[in-house]
Amino acid sequence: MLLVILCVTVLPFAFASINTTCLPSKEVDALREIGRKLGKDWDFERDPCRDWEISSIGERENNVTCIAEPNSTICHVVSINLQGQSLPGILPPELVNLPYLQNLELNRNRLSGTIPPAWGFMERIVNIALLANRLNGSIPQELGNIRTLKSLSVEDNMMYGAIPHELGNLTSIERFRISGNNFSGKIPDFIGEWTSLTSLRIQASGLEGPIPSSITLSESLTDLRISDLGGPDTLCPPFSNTTRFTHLFLRSCNLIGQLPQYLASSLEVLLVIWTFCSFLNLFTNTWNFFALIKTHKHSSSVVNLYRQIGNK
Ligand SMILES: *[C@@H]1O[C@H](CO)[C@@H](O)[C@H](O)[C@H]1NC(C)=O
Ligand SMILES: *[C@@H]1O[C@H](CO)[C@@H](O)[C@H](O)[C@H]1NC(C)=O
Ligand SMILES: *[C@@H]1O[C@H](CO)[C@@H](O)[C@H](O)[C@H]1NC(C)=O
Ligand SMILES: *[C@@H]1O[C@H](CO)[C@@H](O)[C@H](O)[C@H]1NC(C)=O
Ligand SMILES: *[C@@H]1O[C@H](CO)[C@@H](O)[C@H](O)[C@H]1NC(C)=O
Ligand SMILES: *[C@@H]1O[C@H](CO)[C@@H](O)[C@H](O)[C@H]1NC(C)=O
Ligand SMILES: *[C@@H]1O[C@H](CO)[C@@H](O)[C@H](O)[C@H]1NC(C)=O
Repeated sequence: MLLVILCVTVLPFAFASINTTCLPSKEVDALREIGRKLGKDWDFERDPCRDWEISSIGERENNVTCIAEPNSTICHVVSINLQGQSLPGILPPELVNLPYLQNLELNRNRLSGTIPPAWGFMERIVNIALLANRLNGSIPQELGNIRTLKSLSVEDNMMYGAIPHELGNLTSIERFRISGNNFSGKIPDFIGEWTSLTSLRIQASGLEGPIPSSITLSESLTDLRISDLGGPDTLCPPFSNTTRFTHLFLRSCNLIGQLPQYLASSLEVLLVIWTFCSFLNLFTNTWNFFALIKTHKHSSSVVNLYRQIGNK
């Protein structure tokens, strides 16, 4: 009897909030499953859009954002940011049931498993950030379907496999960051055809060279960081104008031969570090183009040219 009274009196209050949320129940159901898989203890007795904590403290962020449809009482989840929370779970395929989601930031957790192929059917996703987790498996070819995707970061995980050629269809991509994994195969040539690319980071990724020379033609690219490539020795890509770069970093890419003419003649804005990379190079007297870092965009005063000459 007491239990019945409790249920009758308490339940309506317990659900009052969620029942008044502007979210469609399908999105609430999706959030329940997403929270369960991520290992996030969301409180569904509170309205996800109005009552969940929004905070940003150091590297820890907690922020689910909803946006209302124009002239409507219905709203949708557009952003989920749960960075730096040590979440222990896996990546939920159910994110695809949040059809208005644009931004997903799950950096610096302890998420494991693989990227769900179902994510390739997210309709409006723009940013997927998964840096510093424990993900393995490869990048699903289905991600090549996402025409809205502008930024993909899977840096510092344990991913492997080749970069699927379907990603060549990511024509809106601006930031592609895959450093710190164990991928295999070559850097795909299609990267040079991503015309909106601004930032490319392939450091210690497991991939092999050569660096596609077509990336030197990209006019939007301002941040290029490639290092620790396997594969054969190749000539430095034919950069003809590095003015636009804020970061140009090519280290241990097995580049040989002469510093390209343009770079050699624009040393006043570059800090150039040359070094011998391999023992073999000492004796064949070819320079390994070890690192080229532009540090001061407008500095024309000091030229720093470090040459480490290994003659013995
Ligand atoms: C709304 O409240 C009713 C009980 O009044 C409950 O059965 C239902 O599950 C609630 N809806 C949601 C989305 O929680
Ligand atoms: C929460 O996320 C939204 C969408 O990304 C953003 O506009 C807002 O500034 C964030 N709020 C805080 C406090 O970080
Ligand atoms: C929303 O309402 C405003 C005025 O209340 C109207 O001007 C506008 O066209 C409406 N927009 C849509 C998408 O119905
Ligand atoms: C990938 O990660 C999962 C979950 O941590 C693990 O069970 C599995 O053995 C890993 N697979 C490989 C090939 O490392
Ligand atoms: C890229 O998209 C086009 C047009 O939708 C399609 O015909 C082609 O097969 C896709 N390429 C890859 C590698 O998926
Ligand atoms: C990386 O993958 C290669 C096979 O492609 C494997 O031999 C190697 O052990 C892997 N390294 C790590 C650190 O997992
Ligand atoms: C290099 O590119 C910048 C703009 O990106 C342009 O202003 C400059 O004239 C170019 N320099 C040369 C030598 O082509």
